[in-house]
Amino acid sequence: MNKQTNFDLVLFGATGDLAMRKLIPNLYQAHAAGLLNPEGRILGVSRSKLDTAGFLRQIESDAKVHIKKNFSEEMWNSFLKRIQYLTVDVTHRADFDKLAELVKARKNTENVIVYLSTAPTFFTQACANLAAVGLNGKNVRVVLEKPLGTDLKSSQKINADVAEHFEESQVYRIDHYLGKESLQNLIPLRFANVFFEPVWNKDFIKSVQITIAEQLGVEERAEFYDATGALRDMVQNHMLQMLCFVAMERPKSLAGDDMRDAKMKVLKALKPLSPADIDVNVIRAQYTAAEGHAGYLEEHNVPADSRTETYVAIKAEIENERWQGVPFYLRTGKRLAAKTAEIVLNFREDLDDLFPNTPNRLIVNMQPRETVSTCVFIKEPGSSMNAMPVEMVIDLAHAVEGRRAEAYELLLREVIDGRLSRFNRRDELEAAWEWVMPIMEHWAKSPVAPHQYAAGSWGPQAARDLLAKDNNAWLEDQ
Ligand code: BG6
Repeated sequence: MNKQTNFDLVLFGATGDLAMRKLIPNLYQAHAAGLLNPEGRILGVSRSKLDTAGFLRQIESDAKVHIKKNFSEEMWNSFLKRIQYLTVDVTHRADFDKLAELVKARKNTENVIVYLSTAPTFFTQACANLAAVGLNGKNVRVVLEKPLGTDLKSSQKINADVAEHFEESQVYRIDHYLGKESLQNLIPLRFANVFFEPVWNKDFIKSVQITIAEQLGVEERAEFYDATGALRDMVQNHMLQMLCFVAMERPKSLAGDDMRDAKMKVLKALKPLSPADIDVNVIRAQYTAAEGHAGYLEEHNVPADSRTETYVAIKAEIENERWQGVPFYLRTGKRLAAKTAEIVLNFREDLDDLFPNTPNRLIVNMQPRETVSTCVFIKEPGSSMNAMPVEMVIDLAHAVEGRRAEAYELLLREVIDGRLSRFNRRDELEAAWEWVMPIMEHWAKSPVAPHQYAAGSWGPQAARDLLAKDNNAWLEDQ
């Protein structure tokens, strides 16, 4: 007997970049691992006038190259049998009749997933047209790809429009960082190990750093990126989710709404930033030409007078019993010295004067290494009682046997199984927008130009100064 959930996955934006680079390759991985119901069907839809054979040819040329593991021609061919294609223009109601006909012609439609991998401007109309043809019943889940709006107002509007046709329990808002095992790992790390949670607070922790650094520049996405910037692209979503995982109280349970309630409380406790705070505690910057890379302002399709930030660093504070007074330093940027996503907990070093100056550290590296490492002090060999630092490392990728799925594969499987906890709830998303809005508004008015940093460096001097003022330093300077 097969226990896997049967499904019809309707993939809007099927010929787009995300579908080709991530969604289709990750569906293949789930298929190859035997984790998809054999009857499960993938229906690619987009405006492109293709038939199924034409779509399969495109997948062959654009998606297959992104499958780096577990590939076999035989498996690939069996995967392709799940796929069909239909031309649908989101703005054409008649196209949705055809779509509904095709979906309903299935014997088994108890689980229909509509994945909107399109620009958010299409979400409203797509949902209205789905509802108009009856594709919004209890058996339908709708997946909304990031970015969900460009500010609080547009995000509220999309959420309200979607809510006219779908219950909140049918809506899966993607933040692919929530699909990363190394982020989810923080929950058992904290709550299943007796020696972490008791020190996970202001009495023991001096500061927290959260970094997402990328080596790539804006590549061919300049048009999107210049209208977006690092704050909207990375902080409003991925970085605030990482912060929530570090800072949340023990959730009542691990189920959908309890986890989301715990994260929501963190977002609500974030200290709002006034214009004066922003001037002092938020740094925006752009990369300049170095190491053979063009500067941001020289990139193709970037206006020469653009003020869009390719880097942002923020000192955030959480106003609650656990974290009062502990700075949370967030930073992210393009064209930095390394590609990494990392959380660093710096513990207080003033707790015992027998060994002053022994700063313990816990580093959770989410990528590229997926490790949890602690800096602990041991006795220096010899006649002295000096303490010296050593690193204890848990390598998550090798600590346990078995395949580690990529974020999108895990998330797609969660949607198929109808589990909501790794997706953003409406209030959570809006609370995150609420917190970043004052920064966006202040920057729009500010006469002060972004700072600069050389491509390939660790960011602007101003970000180093931000920590130095508090007697702290970014990990690479510690
Ligand atoms: C996306 C951003 O959400 O995340 C991109 O739009 C960024 O600009 C990407 O490159 C980073 O994801 P990851 O998983 O490579 O860290």
